[in-house]
Amino acid sequence: MVTKKVETALNEQIALEAASSQYYLAMASWAETQGLEGVASFLYTHADEERMHMLKLIKYVNERGGQAQIPALKAQPQKFKSVQFVFEEVLKHEILVSNEINALVEVCLKEKDYTTHNFLQWYVSEQIEEEALARKVLDKLKLIGNDASGLYFFDRDMGSLTGAEANAGNEKA
Ligand code: FEO
Repeated sequence: MVTKKVETALNEQIALEAASSQYYLAMASWAETQGLEGVASFLYTHADEERMHMLKLIKYVNERGGQAQIPALKAQPQKFKSVQFVFEEVLKHEILVSNEINALVEVCLKEKDYTTHNFLQWYVSEQIEEEALARKVLDKLKLIGNDASGLYFFDRDMGSLTGAEANAGNEKA
């Protein structure tokens, strides 16, 4: 059974994962309209993964005798100024999520909820990977700068990264 404090904190995380999924979905859709199919595919997959993170939390809260709160969806930006900006936002957002996961772990320790603490370790590891991946992508974009042919190859690489990332995600899930 989760305590009220843990339940509230988990529900806040559900809302954050849902918002993350919507944000990446908006980025994916924008990239698709820019002809960046590889980037779009990567971001669509990323949005799906965030939804999976949300679902995992929903099921956990309900299983532990709490009540998962399904959050409202907020309107998302329609346009982004560049691909680099998109991935800067992804990194910034993932750092925010990592901080929130850490705060959630802290709540579990204070409440002596070692079961939820254990459950959250999957999220702690996932965040390390997601931040590292966003940094890797950003480093590539910084190397490319304003080079159009560089962006073409970057987009192609992102398409193949999608498959690898999705497979890694499936193995972990
Ligand atoms: Fe589920 Fe990338 O945070």
